[in-house]
Amino acid sequence: MTKLNVLYATILCCLALLSQVRARTLIENITESANSIVKNIDTYDFSSCQIYCYGPLLHTVQMAKLFPDSKTFVDMKLKASPETTLEDFDAFMASKNNTPTRDEIREFVDAHFGEKGTELDVWTPTDWVERPGFLDLVHDPDLRQWGMDLNNIWRELGRKMKEDVQKNPQYYSIIPVPNPVIVPGGRFIEFYYWDSYWIIRGLLHSEMTNTARGMIENFLNMVQRIGFIPNGGRVYYWGRSQPPLLTAMVKSYVDFTKDDLFAINALDVLEHEFEYFINNHTVQAKGHNLVAYRDSSSGPRPESYSEDVETSESFDTEAAKEDHYSELKSAAESGMDFSSRWYINEDGTNVGNLTNAKTRSIVPVELNAILYWNAKMIAEFHSKAGNVEKMTEYETKAQKIKEAIQAVLWNEEAGCWLDYDLINDKPRNYYVSSNLSPLWVKAYNISDSEKISASVLKYIENNKLDTFPGGVPNTLYQTGEQWDFPNVWAPMQYILVEGLDNLGTPEAKELSQRWGQRWVKSNFEAYRETLAMFEKYDAEKFGGHGGGGEYGVQTGFGWTNGVIIEWLAKYGRQISLSGNTGGAAPSSRIISLLGVTAVALVGALAGRFIW
Ligand SMILES: *[C@@H]1O[C@H](CO)[C@@H](O)[C@H](O)[C@H]1NC(C)=O
Ligand SMILES: *[C@@H]1O[C@H](CO)[C@@H](O)[C@H](O)[C@H]1NC(C)=O
Ligand SMILES: *[C@@H]1O[C@H](CO)[C@@H](O)[C@H](O)[C@H]1NC(C)=O
Ligand SMILES: *[C@@H]1O[C@H](CO)[C@@H](O)[C@H](O)[C@H]1NC(C)=O
Repeated sequence: MTKLNVLYATILCCLALLSQVRARTLIENITESANSIVKNIDTYDFSSCQIYCYGPLLHTVQMAKLFPDSKTFVDMKLKASPETTLEDFDAFMASKNNTPTRDEIREFVDAHFGEKGTELDVWTPTDWVERPGFLDLVHDPDLRQWGMDLNNIWRELGRKMKEDVQKNPQYYSIIPVPNPVIVPGGRFIEFYYWDSYWIIRGLLHSEMTNTARGMIENFLNMVQRIGFIPNGGRVYYWGRSQPPLLTAMVKSYVDFTKDDLFAINALDVLEHEFEYFINNHTVQAKGHNLVAYRDSSSGPRPESYSEDVETSESFDTEAAKEDHYSELKSAAESGMDFSSRWYINEDGTNVGNLTNAKTRSIVPVELNAILYWNAKMIAEFHSKAGNVEKMTEYETKAQKIKEAIQAVLWNEEAGCWLDYDLINDKPRNYYVSSNLSPLWVKAYNISDSEKISASVLKYIENNKLDTFPGGVPNTLYQTGEQWDFPNVWAPMQYILVEGLDNLGTPEAKELSQRWGQRWVKSNFEAYRETLAMFEKYDAEKFGGHGGGGEYGVQTGFGWTNGVIIEWLAKYGRQISLSGNTGGAAPSSRIISLLGVTAVALVGALAGRFIW
């Protein structure tokens, strides 16, 4: 051991002892809410799955394409129990010789299902405040007004489950949770897993601590009942999760509130989720254990059923079709559904379409980085609780993942981390925003920061990532899929910008700030032209919003608003709108001015927008 190591060990030991004393006082004072996390366990009733997740009824209705969006049907409420409905369905099919017409199927659906989305009531958050403190950090008056508008939108996105959902969950596809939630918006009328990380951070900046904690408690509760957190709050997502950010939500909450006890009480559940990912997602590459996205259900995605059946038509056997469904659902687990990122064609490249999806054979950079981070945070919470042994155990797990990331995913030649192709046993040298995600969670040796900074900035330059006026695109490949060029997504923008900031060199910090401010200004431009916040934006156009993929552009929008609120707080003292557009592309002042006038008019008419 070097002297430095001895010093480090001594400090750690002292810290652990100190926190042990603190933890003891804290534990004597367990709050009711923290208690309810660990004790309120009941077993989830999946009986509505026989209607919404698989089976002949789902197949018949979804293949009839009664609704423009396939998700509509699986969000409709049952009028009778699943058992009665299935009996009626069998009788219906028998009476129609197993070949009902589309109109007959529509009649059956009308008779047995109610409107979609009736399980949730609009809910006004009780902890909402009119002027959260972050607004005082924003100097530009237009940006400050925008911050107020965004803060108002939380009230439009609040939802609470009807009591009947708790009493009769078998009539609904929604998964009951105890506390109200903030939803993304648009077609996404329930809560989603990774979206909620940025929503919760936004809520914390908006001083809505109770709403944020309630949402985190819902997730903790789901891990206890289901064993993991499904992609979103519907039974039909039961076979897949999403990038596991629950531990990071708890960490954000504790950073804002200093309520260490909340994290300590959640430790069992957080460990359970971590182990679930390690046990159920592990793959091997170059002699290292890493994780990849997975799905454990069978059949097409219930919410995009006919779409999946159609892409599966190019496969001959049932087994090949089933594999195809699994690749698509695993891509859905990543949150990046869909993208050329998941294609491996016969030549081993990313050129292709959805039939080339091989998600399960791609080791994704961000999932491994996030699990490293989870292990680090769990170790930190154990240290707060004074559990030295457990702290060491999770530190060791973290180190192992970090070594595997370095050995398999770091690519010296490219100067960045790259996804790894397990079929062809080679790195995938394609730019994806997630390639830079280890910077966000510091999944590298901090002593290598200078070297990594030089490499990564070169990588950014080689890929011309600093040339886009509307944000840094998710990939550089235009396929028509929504996670490909030219679409830009708030969470990935956040991961890039915070990652460069964390890297800490002056060059990386400068770029981080430029990208962060450019994003704020471009989102503002889109808002001022449309009065809407979007799910995704357009890299090629300052103020442009996104398109493509399986459904129309959605507005609302939870994670976008969360990122902007955080960055208004972060950059609010520096950004001013006058005279420039973030240093990327000149925007037409005249168009902007027309936009402002139009917005002011619309706003005045709608009575909700004050200049
Ligand atoms: C115990 O809880 C009460 C009420 O929530 C709080 O005021 C007090 O500061 C807590 N004590 C400790 C040691 O955390
Ligand atoms: C995770 O894997 C274990 C064993 O490998 C299995 O028993 C369990 O059902 C899996 N859990 C889920 C939710 O898929
Ligand atoms: C996808 O690519 C395959 C061959 O590479 C082709 O046969 C198929 O028609 C394509 N499907 C779509 C939907 O474009
Ligand atoms: C970190 O540095 C140590 C000591 O030089 C080395 O053994 C280890 O492999 C490095 N790990 C990573 C992830 O770079």
